[in-house]
Amino acid sequence: MVSRRVALTAAGVGIAGVAGAAAVGAAMMDDDRSPASASPGDAVAFFGEHQAGIVTPAQDRLHFAAFDVITKDRAKLVEMLREWTAAAARMTQGRDAGLLGAVGGQAEAPPDDTGEALGLPASGLTLTIGFGRTLFRDAAGADRFAIADRLPAALEALPHFPGDALRPEISDGDLCVQACANDPQVAVHAIRNLARIGFGVVSIRYSQLGFGRTSSTSREQATARNLMGFKDGTRNLKLEDTDLLREQLWARAEDGAAWMAGGSYLVTRRIRMTVETWDRTPLAEQEAIFGRDKGEGAPLGQAKEFDEPDFAAKGADGEPVIAKQAHIRLAHPDFNNGAHLLRRGYNFVDGSDGLGRLDAGLFFIAYQRDPRKQFVPVQRSLARSDILNEYIRHVSSGLWACPPGVTGDGDHWGRALF
Ligand code: HEM
Repeated sequence: MVSRRVALTAAGVGIAGVAGAAAVGAAMMDDDRSPASASPGDAVAFFGEHQAGIVTPAQDRLHFAAFDVITKDRAKLVEMLREWTAAAARMTQGRDAGLLGAVGGQAEAPPDDTGEALGLPASGLTLTIGFGRTLFRDAAGADRFAIADRLPAALEALPHFPGDALRPEISDGDLCVQACANDPQVAVHAIRNLARIGFGVVSIRYSQLGFGRTSSTSREQATARNLMGFKDGTRNLKLEDTDLLREQLWARAEDGAAWMAGGSYLVTRRIRMTVETWDRTPLAEQEAIFGRDKGEGAPLGQAKEFDEPDFAAKGADGEPVIAKQAHIRLAHPDFNNGAHLLRRGYNFVDGSDGLGRLDAGLFFIAYQRDPRKQFVPVQRSLARSDILNEYIRHVSSGLWACPPGVTGDGDHWGRALF
């Protein structure tokens, strides 16, 4: 809780100097809600109907990794998934990855765990696995693991969106693991040990570190801010929205792929921000782009963060108070056939690009029941008209089928699929 408040205050210092900065700072300081009800060191249950890391409260840190499967041996892949599950069940509870312990085993063999998380608490670690389209049928069309007939219709390749500048080497992949924790060392340790266990079966295709969760997934959490300085996640799908979660988040057997019942589809997009240009944009223009004010995060024309936006309201000039091309209008369920997303993204800064600019942005993460009806139409409308596009570029994309949770002994990631 302390670190979240310090981070928000630091963000307030960062934007001092723009008109209205005092109001921004005051709004930040007034927010007394804690970001999560549990202590940051606590463990999150691994076993359950759904995988943890989706509606469980978003942690502060991310290490996301996409893997290529480098064997054609189905049995080896299934065995690795079994070992990954056992290691994940241990690591999420604050234990080491291997049965022999961090420094256990024989002196002449590598240790059973890399060791850097020794003595650290579970830190809210969740590990969430997803399967990419190429696991079912690879780029050459081969059905390497005899599962092509199980490819869910909802895993249809995403279309090309206007403005996409996707780099293939940091897009797609056969498998992904989203590791979230309140301590970056714990998240990195988890991915590293899964990669170690998977040696000879998988190799890391790309990975992404993230910080400062940009979405709250529970009403217990205060809304965090993205690198544009705006509260992000205000109108996100949340743990408490039980009816909407049933309707819009969890896949069902009758959707077509029975093995996905209780799972969810994940879209990941690495979105680069040209923060230097953004930082020279007037406050009023920044607020018009999102359709919310920067300090409180209220929809324009309203007073408080959680007030409902009034898209019909017009100003004295006769123009809509929330512009026709504002982000929150274009992304709102009312203009997208009722589509909601559960967003769970993270900020990233990966150094600088050699041209005096930060390589910074949002690693966008969104879960849903069917991307064809949710992410795709929303992104189509944003890609076409969002004024925000002048300041962002989508450089990586991934689409993943995240199976239901592991229910207990004998069960493992992907058991129903294989
Ligand atoms: C809302 C930022 C990309 C979907 C918002 C809000 C902010 C924001 C500040 C308002 C607060 C909130 O309700 O969360 C950004 C930034 C992006 C980005 C900085 C890129 C760098 C996307 C993308 C999608 C998306 C790619 C989906 C295709 C949504 C949705 C809402 C939203 C569904 C809630 C709309 C509502 O119901 O009011 N975003 N966003 N955003 N955004 Fe984004």
